[in-house]
Amino acid sequence: TALPYANAAFHIGHMMEYIQADIWVRFQRMRGHAVHFVCADDAHGAPIMIAADKAGLTPQAFVAQIAAGRRQYLDGFHIAFDHWHSTDAPENHELAQDIYRALRREGLIVERTIEQFFDPAKGMFLPDRFIKGTCPRCGTPDQYGDNCESCGAVYQPTELKNPYSALSGVTPVLKSSRHFFFQLSSPRAIEFLKGWTQTPGRLQPEVLNKISEWFAEGEDGKPLLADWDISRDAPYFGIRIPDTDDKYFYVWLDAPVGYLASLKALLGVGYEQFVADPAVEQIHFIGKDIVTFHTLFWPAMLHFSGRKVPNHIFVHGFITVSGAKMSKSRGTGISPLRYLELGLNPEWLRYYIAAKLNARVEDIDFNPEDFIARVNSDLVGKFVNIASRAAGFLNKRFEGHLSADVGVEGRMLLDTLRGQSEPIGTLFEEREYGKALREIMALADRVNGFVDLHKPWELAKRPDQAATLHDVCTVCIEAFRVLSVY
Ligand code: MSP
Ligand code: ZN
Repeated sequence: TALPYANAAFHIGHMMEYIQADIWVRFQRMRGHAVHFVCADDAHGAPIMIAADKAGLTPQAFVAQIAAGRRQYLDGFHIAFDHWHSTDAPENHELAQDIYRALRREGLIVERTIEQFFDPAKGMFLPDRFIKGTCPRCGTPDQYGDNCESCGAVYQPTELKNPYSALSGVTPVLKSSRHFFFQLSSPRAIEFLKGWTQTPGRLQPEVLNKISEWFAEGEDGKPLLADWDISRDAPYFGIRIPDTDDKYFYVWLDAPVGYLASLKALLGVGYEQFVADPAVEQIHFIGKDIVTFHTLFWPAMLHFSGRKVPNHIFVHGFITVSGAKMSKSRGTGISPLRYLELGLNPEWLRYYIAAKLNARVEDIDFNPEDFIARVNSDLVGKFVNIASRAAGFLNKRFEGHLSADVGVEGRMLLDTLRGQSEPIGTLFEEREYGKALREIMALADRVNGFVDLHKPWELAKRPDQAATLHDVCTVCIEAFRVLSVY
């Protein structure tokens, strides 16, 4: 899963991503696959440096404080990460520098002196996120300097229309500085990326469509995908670029490397051998706002540094709360921690989110009334109902034992349930959780129909029907077990 910025607590959007991935991970494990499920805090970058400064802390102390708060959310919602790391950890410094050196050896790093926005009031080069203005591509106002949240365009801050400093409000001035670029516009990078992105099954069709725009030729006959500026001037909280003393990697260079750093911290000495195994698959779960980084920059970094490339990038949409959009860093509407503090069951939220998810890049909405209705009708009314109708009789009347043979009708019902294992499994594999849960609830309906037909509460009143009661309750409990697994 994407590495969350270490500048704020989790909001429901983060939990949705972790729940989507966690369900998939648990499914793969049930199918016998070994999964290393890793994540980390994305610690670097100017916004975190500035936020730490405002809080009167070193960036290290600031991100440590955020990191310390992660566990209660993850444990609270049963998110089974194998390891949670930090992009400021030594493994990441080392790996990011290794990757950079390899790209340099490949001749894919160039140095250029560029003009950059400088805040004359603050006396510093302005980080991308602190220059705002109008998107040069779609015209949406108040967009950040590195990419547009409305149309997904990635650009240089100097391309913004009507720029202003978000730190001081003044109009920034241009100043020159030497920068390092990763040559993504080189013919071999373009060729690799076209091949990688177009490999069947790698990307969702709508994701491929969107990023393919970068391969289209502009007016100069070159692809729209430009070389990527990967350096930032001091002061910066980040990883030092080798052989410089005042240049740092742009946070988006070392952030994805954090996936590998986390895996390396988890596996220790076994890491090199593990990632060299061609049977190993690398899979990312991310939101729609960070597609360009994961489908263009990151695979190119991996490929040209001689590493395994991602097998799949699974992109999800955004969750809104009662229809209201949530900002990247400011959570709104519902706090996942408050949810837990109120004693609400984490399984309810997992179920509700799963019921709304599919394999497409679609936004979903958390609606409190809908949430309550869904939990009551599906989980309580349909699923738990099956067990609650049968468990009491089994305990009280049959000492908790099941009957050995449940009769033809019961066997047929159970066979129907068990027979859905493959189709339901396929839906989980495809991340069609909503469809999977609809299938599962349809099975629950059939079991409830069986209960209504045989009315165990009436059988219980007739001593001559004890064997039938035992069979009916046995079918219910076994059906409940199968549905629980699903
Ligand atoms: N730090 C970067 C990712 C670096 S990955 C090498 C980042 N962090 S984030 O905290 O802003 O977002 C983390 C993940 O949460 C992203 O996949 C993002 O798309 C996802 N979400 C953020 N808000 C969301 C919703 N409202 N709904 C669903 N997912 C959302 O981006
Ligand atoms: Zn735009």
